[in-house]
Amino acid sequence: MSETKEVFGLFGAGGFARETMVALKEQLLRTRGPLNAEADYRVCFVDTEPELSEVNQLPCLKEDDFFNLPGRKFFNIAINESRLREKIAAKSEPLATPFSIIANSVEIGDGNQLHPSAIMSANTMLTSNTTIGRYFQANIYSYVAHDCIVGDFVTFAPRVCCNGNIIIEDHAYIGTAAVLRQGTASKPLRIGAGAIVGMGAVVTNDVPAGTTVIGNPARPMEPRNR
Ligand SMILES: CC(C)(COP(=O)(O)OP(=O)(O)OC[C@H]1O[C@@H](n2cnc3c(N)ncnc32)[C@H](O)[C@@H]1OP(=O)(O)O)[C@@H](O)C(=O)NCCC(=O)NCCS
Repeated sequence: MSETKEVFGLFGAGGFARETMVALKEQLLRTRGPLNAEADYRVCFVDTEPELSEVNQLPCLKEDDFFNLPGRKFFNIAINESRLREKIAAKSEPLATPFSIIANSVEIGDGNQLHPSAIMSANTMLTSNTTIGRYFQANIYSYVAHDCIVGDFVTFAPRVCCNGNIIIEDHAYIGTAAVLRQGTASKPLRIGAGAIVGMGAVVTNDVPAGTTVIGNPARPMEPRNR
């Protein structure tokens, strides 16, 4: 057994974390070689209160146990709630290094700036000249097209179509299969901070900060439905 030089911890043990672990393992196989007794790296799930000591044959550690392991620690956070992600990031950054998880099938074109804390799930794409902030999550089959600017702690559910020239502010959540109409260079479409776009919405106009929109064309949810 070789000495462990690097430990990769993935916060979360729910559905998205288990899916993301598959992408992380393929990334490590690609960049570091097979995970076996000879490997000089280790991988684990990390949870505040683990219900199980193992998830899908990998250890699930309490956060302090992860931070106290020997070797250089790297982490990412596979948790949808962006405020919780922000809290875990603030606590973890002094103790470990964030890293991006990029599935093998991801396509990243020219001129993109992706903060090194993203999760790009299988079959996601950044086309060209996008700027993506901290702890972005792009779930399966989502894309971000040319000239978009995505803030910090933004979450995409599966199959989000984010067309060109769109600004998405911090902590926005875009639901499954939502379609965001392209903006223009002089008038980008804007999804405000903390806004929620419901699954299946077709967004044709700006969404104000903190607003939930649904439907085609997307409209704010009626308070009686909230
Ligand atoms: C928009 C959303 C955030 C609203 O959640 P909520 O506030 O809990 O709303 P509720 O489920 O109580 O639904 C309230 C009403 O809106 C309707 N509704 C909910 N989401 C809707 C949507 N996306 N499009 C159209 N109608 C929707 C419900 O049918 C319900 O209508 P009713 O009162 O006539 O029965 C949520 O439904 C959503 O779309 N989330 C994204 C889910 C997703 O993509 N998950 C991915 C997991 S990886």
